[in-house]
Amino acid sequence: MAPSLFWRSPWLKPLNDTTAWNSLLQGVNATWSLTEVRARVLRTVQECRDVVSLYLKPNRLFKGFTPGQHLALTLPCNGVLQSRSFSLSQAPDASGVLRLTIKLKADGVLSQAIAKLKRGAVVRLSQAGGAFTHARPERGVLLLSAGSGITPMIAMLQDWAKSESRPDVLMIHSCRDEADWILREDLRTLVHQWPQLKIRPVFTAADGRLDAERLQALAPDFALRDTLLCGPEDFMDWIAAFYRGHGLSRQLKQEHFQARRTEIRPDAAHYQVYSADGRAAFDARNGQTLLEAAEAGGLNPVHGCRRGICKTCTCRKLGGTVHNQLTDTLSGSGDEWIQLCVSTPVSDLHLEL
Ligand code: FES
Repeated sequence: MAPSLFWRSPWLKPLNDTTAWNSLLQGVNATWSLTEVRARVLRTVQECRDVVSLYLKPNRLFKGFTPGQHLALTLPCNGVLQSRSFSLSQAPDASGVLRLTIKLKADGVLSQAIAKLKRGAVVRLSQAGGAFTHARPERGVLLLSAGSGITPMIAMLQDWAKSESRPDVLMIHSCRDEADWILREDLRTLVHQWPQLKIRPVFTAADGRLDAERLQALAPDFALRDTLLCGPEDFMDWIAAFYRGHGLSRQLKQEHFQARRTEIRPDAAHYQVYSADGRAAFDARNGQTLLEAAEAGGLNPVHGCRRGICKTCTCRKLGGTVHNQLTDTLSGSGDEWIQLCVSTPVSDLHLEL
């Protein structure tokens, strides 16, 4: 028997069952897995009001990250797996330790589970992803952050601080007050190592919100700088509109914490999505993600990040074509795996729901 046929023999099926192997390995060490990135919590640090940092040591399956990227953290909550994406808030180093700095929501099920994590606990992670990176700035940089939008910026700043040719960086950070300033100690350390780094805080409780006038006063040369923007949606929306108004959208990179609901054109085509047994399952429009369409149709597909990172929403497409909004590519028309949260229909579809 050829060696490959030997390994596919039904007698050896248990040896090819990765789920069984994973359970076996995790019985020995909870971070061991053949397929999943799992990480042990090394410590948790209360950063400020409702904000906690998790220091995590991932297993060998984690492939590393570029400062500015995020990953999905998955935890069981009341017996159901829940995922959310968080930016890595510390530059990579030789220790391989990852830091996630998380704003806990009082009514968030996942937040409550995160708040209870103790040293030694094991969590699941996705690989890191996202295009909010700026590894080698070629001119001045303006960082615009608000609230927990500061977290990917800190990883980038730590990375640039280590480089021989540090860029000219101006950071404007908006938060309610000094007590609400996330990772302030990290910034203090950075300014100590890198005195040219310019930080301009805006405390909204005392000074009001950052607006266009104050932005231009704090960064009069904003048009000459590459700009990285991260914070709550309303903060990001007005700044994106401001850059658009100045014809500078191309020099603005943004990171959205919340998955945005897709805007569907009024004339967008309607398609029918069928389940594997041929029954009409739900209606979906071009531009709408299949996850949104399924939810609007009363279904509740398993999902996590809603941003194409965690792969929890992966579903088998049996027929039809989808557009992947993340990669801007069209699928084939046949049998393949797709992610519901970033796929929009361009034909009727058959899915294994
Ligand atoms: S829900 Fe995370 S990839 Fe779709």
